[in-house]
Amino acid sequence: TVGPDVVDVRGLTATGRFTFDPGFMSTASCESKITYIDGDAGILLHRGYPIEQLAEKSDYLETCYLLLNGELPTAEQKAKFVSVIKNHTMVHEQLKSFFNGFRRDAHPMAIMCGVVGALSAFYHDSLDINNAQHREVSAMRLIAKMPTIAAMAYKYSMGQPMMYPRNDLNYAENFLHMMFNTPCEIKPISPVLAKAMDRIFVLHADHEQNASTSTVRLAGSSGANPFACIAAGIAALWGPAHGGANEAVLTMLDEIGSVENIDKFIAKAKDKNDPFKLMGFGHRVYKNRDPRATVMKKTCDEVLSELGITNDPQLQLAMRLEEIALTDPYFKERNLYPNVDFYSGIILKAIGIPTSMFTVIFALSRTVGWISHWKEMLSSPYKIGRPRQLYTGYDKRDYVKLEDRK
Ligand code: ACO
Repeated sequence: TVGPDVVDVRGLTATGRFTFDPGFMSTASCESKITYIDGDAGILLHRGYPIEQLAEKSDYLETCYLLLNGELPTAEQKAKFVSVIKNHTMVHEQLKSFFNGFRRDAHPMAIMCGVVGALSAFYHDSLDINNAQHREVSAMRLIAKMPTIAAMAYKYSMGQPMMYPRNDLNYAENFLHMMFNTPCEIKPISPVLAKAMDRIFVLHADHEQNASTSTVRLAGSSGANPFACIAAGIAALWGPAHGGANEAVLTMLDEIGSVENIDKFIAKAKDKNDPFKLMGFGHRVYKNRDPRATVMKKTCDEVLSELGITNDPQLQLAMRLEEIALTDPYFKERNLYPNVDFYSGIILKAIGIPTSMFTVIFALSRTVGWISHWKEMLSSPYKIGRPRQLYTGYDKRDYVKLEDRK
């Protein structure tokens, strides 16, 4: 026992004993110094710093440095970090061929799974996981190239030419530039929208052992290369119960259609015989308000006001849904608050990002969290992740010859 609520079972496996914990409701798979969450109190700290302060005062690349290195950078360290990231923003020209292999209507998350995994076929000089220098370079490459690959996936789906990164812009501005500018028309990027984008990146940067981060650690524990591990994380993130929720929120709002239909959908969400859930509500760990959702709501208000959006029917529907869910006893009793994905979907829509790109943006932001956990795991003694199971199948029985089977 290592604390009043923590039982350390290291060593017990030799006796054949194990815990049965479907969904890992109460199983810690690792030790980590990166992120702390108190779900009951609604607290999220990265390396000790509250997420609210990072969202307000920091920026994404500084937060990346913090997650990776454990401390906020000095001015000199920050400048060097930003410069190294900028040095890696382009992707190998031949990588473009991968995009052409996809249907134009392929979901961009399908493209991300494939293309990010394929990076391991291009960057052989950073694949040795036992070499600290290789681990560092692959981390920088992944953080730097994710916006480029994400924007390339979008441009491919639009049939537009892909845009090269611009290193005179900051991380968020450059992403918006590659998304929305074309070689024929280079428009300046709105600082308010770039700030909102950067904040979305910060708020999604890490969240300890969620499904995708645990997947990255599990893949990494077998010695897989970093690009393959991050591709595994992207796959795990895609599901609507995890990162796919931001896209699912907008799809749900489309389905609801208008305020008059809200009651019908709330009733569906409460019906235990109906698999429908109110997308963007609830969280495995937060049984209080998700602190990221609070910051996201504020950012949402700023973006809508900057863009002069006051009467978008879908946004009005979202706000009304939020009001109803926050006062309905079913949601109150179960502590089902709007989560970070509820508001991020609304902001992304307002910025003009298509719904199919929402989860891609989550993946882009979370890459630093995944890679920080992967690096942390590899920097200390670790074992291959190998959960046990509770077998509920047949007892031993003898093989039946084909002619004797009924
Ligand atoms: N709508 C309606 N009921 C819900 C919802 C919801 N969104 N979420 C949970 N509940 C209900 C459950 O049916 C259950 O009710 P019961 O006690 O009467 O059986 C109770 O609330 C507890 O929920 P669980 O499913 O046990 O909670 P769990 O921790 O397993 O699931 C999850 C958390 C997956 C996030 C869930 O709330 C959900 O599916 N939400 C919608 C999808 C979503 O927004 N996901 C994004 C999560 S945040 C992120 O990944 C960044």
